[in-house]
Amino acid sequence: MRKGLIMENELIRRIKEQQNGKKYTILTMGCQLNENDSEKIAGMIEEIGYNMTKKIGEADLIVINTCCVRENAEERVFGKLGELKKIKEQNGTIIAIGGCMMQEEVMRNKIKKSYPFVDIIFGTHTIHRFQKDLYQAIVEKQKIQDILDINGEIHEGLPIKRKHSKQASVTIMYGCNNFCSYCIVPYVRGRERSRKPENIINEVERLAKEGYVEVTLLGQNVNSYKGRENYGFAELLRDINKIKGIERIRFVSPHPKDFTDNVIQAIKEGEHICKLIHLPLQSGSSKILKEMNRNYTKEQYIELVEKMKNQIPNVTFSTDIIVGFPGETEEDFEDTLDIVKKVNFEQIYMFIYSRRSGTKADKMDNQIPEDIKHKRFELLKSLFEKKIPENNLKYVGSIQRVLVEGISKNNSKMYTGRTESNKVVNFEGKEEYVGKIVDLKIIAEHTWYLEGKLKDN
Ligand code: SAH
Ligand code: SF4
Ligand code: F3S
Repeated sequence: MRKGLIMENELIRRIKEQQNGKKYTILTMGCQLNENDSEKIAGMIEEIGYNMTKKIGEADLIVINTCCVRENAEERVFGKLGELKKIKEQNGTIIAIGGCMMQEEVMRNKIKKSYPFVDIIFGTHTIHRFQKDLYQAIVEKQKIQDILDINGEIHEGLPIKRKHSKQASVTIMYGCNNFCSYCIVPYVRGRERSRKPENIINEVERLAKEGYVEVTLLGQNVNSYKGRENYGFAELLRDINKIKGIERIRFVSPHPKDFTDNVIQAIKEGEHICKLIHLPLQSGSSKILKEMNRNYTKEQYIELVEKMKNQIPNVTFSTDIIVGFPGETEEDFEDTLDIVKKVNFEQIYMFIYSRRSGTKADKMDNQIPEDIKHKRFELLKSLFEKKIPENNLKYVGSIQRVLVEGISKNNSKMYTGRTESNKVVNFEGKEEYVGKIVDLKIIAEHTWYLEGKLKDN
């Protein structure tokens, strides 16, 4: 039984009596860590008898799990809340709002003032108390605010209702110590805390038994994972690689400054470890990187990429880039474009710099005008998109191992899956391949996806 919940069984019994068979929905606005938190919240809600629905109009309980990494993520939440107001008035739905944005006092006050119909406000460190919060909101009819400002403890063994049946996320560490000057995450997620290796390994072993074939290890900076003395990310990768049944191991995000040779070696040797490295660049300018507090230069980033290309056969890269950081000149931006030309990323997640209150970059007085930020964003996007077909050509004629996900959304005659490097491949398949890894010969590239053929056909 889980620790830390007083009267847990009794509470579950009492709330179950009232809520059994009711419906809930969760709207997740953030990153994969946020998604993984939502899966735990869903697990706790289902434990007390609710069933999931995708239609918010028929839900008795709606949970919004928020993100505050950029302003547009916050705006979406307020848009949603406007919509929920009507639903609440019509149906008396219980509304709970949690996640990163709720760790900001200003945002909590805004919700209380402008959206007083919200029943529960909870944060990133109090997810494990969700059943208790719900009990108090429903049975005791209270308005709940359950926020901790300190670093939360790690709570093992929470129930979990996963979104997929073959691919699973496993959080290995919480929080972040890096304080990149633009980023709000360390303020809303607290300092780094690593889960114990045995807890992670047990979870992955259980997933393998349940038929999962792919796991993604999650953390804000996975390669600063510290399970115990002399047991870091490389050791964890090696242990997870040994677990039978797990065919694919992915991880996000490592930080370039912490990429040790030991980790590179573990990736190289791990036959199940995907050779796609998500290596957040943020900027190609050494001057901007310094201002961002990233602790590496343009040259060190390129050196790291070259080293991995030399040591890990068929390695590929994806990245995150921010344009329009304060003080970014045309020359700095050219440095970013230069790296994009050199590295041939499989995927780039591009962001326009967004001022986050409380961060160091927000106080910088050389903010870039919106029109220039947008112009640079478009330039970066078009450079990358122009390179995709050429980069895709390397796949044509090759055999790729593809994890089949189901019928293609765009073409109901085709099945779709992903390569180890996360490229979408469409092919003529059969239902029996879904959830399995098949060998496909790549016969054409279509910019946004590759076309494949079963190897034996
Ligand atoms: N810890 C991870 C991911 C952090 S959030 C990492 O360091 O890679 C995901 C991405 O959001 C970041 O990599 C960054 O590119 C982007 N991001 C973070 N803060 C931002 C901001 N204020 N404006 C625009 N993009 C931001
Ligand atoms: Fe934010 Fe930097 Fe931490 Fe990533 S490493 S979460 S960008 S502070
Ligand atoms: Fe993730 Fe957004 Fe929080 S990116 S950690 S959900 S601020």
